Amino acid sequence: MRIDIISVVPDILKSPFEASILKRAIEKGVVEVHIHNLRDYSLGNYKQVDDYQFGGGAGMVLMIEPIDKCIRDLKSERDYDEIIYLTPDGQRLDQKMSNSLSLLKNIIILCGHYKGVDQRVRDTLITKEISIGDYVLSGGELGAAVLADAVIRLLPGVLNDETSALTDTFQDDLLAPPVYTRPREYKGLEVPEVLLGGNFKAIEEWREEQAYLRTKKLRPDLLE
Ligand code: ADE
Repeated sequence: MRIDIISVVPDILKSPFEASILKRAIEKGVVEVHIHNLRDYSLGNYKQVDDYQFGGGAGMVLMIEPIDKCIRDLKSERDYDEIIYLTPDGQRLDQKMSNSLSLLKNIIILCGHYKGVDQRVRDTLITKEISIGDYVLSGGELGAAVLADAVIRLLPGVLNDETSALTDTFQDDLLAPPVYTRPREYKGLEVPEVLLGGNFKAIEEWREEQAYLRTKKLRPDLLE
């Protein structure tokens, strides 16, 4: 998979891809992540990428020209399955959407900033609009990192244990069951007996039950 991220503050996007699972996925060649500074596509000497909004009002708006130029350059090199714009009024990201995005080959993620982008970008260049939650961030960069993480960890070969993404919370509309590690007892707090016995059928049944009970208690909406 190849992910191209377009941003006016590309520095924010560096560290998420330089550690742990995402770093390893890139090193293994499972995914390529390319971060593009929108200012490199700006017009004129001042590297301008934003301007005041027509009709007045607070906040700057990202201009269509540099975005169009950047996307056109990328599209001249390869086909893209989706051109995604991160925005609080987009479709809410969930596990199902992450699963389907993880099947794509090439995607572009455009990060909004300030008041957002000129509407004509959304009308003509963007194929999908995604929000990471009902709150407003100062830009789309952290959302892009969240989206990229949710997708990249699903790619084959990224997680060591191939089955571990399949047992994630939400993967079957249930929250994941509790997990424990050593020590078996800590200040009187004990690990459930069933996990220590090596009876894998009983462990599986216990986990299924716990997943259901936890979902019923914490996220009953998932069971509806
Ligand atoms: N940009 C600002 N807020 C956002 C959000 N909640 N999701 C995605 N992009 C955003």
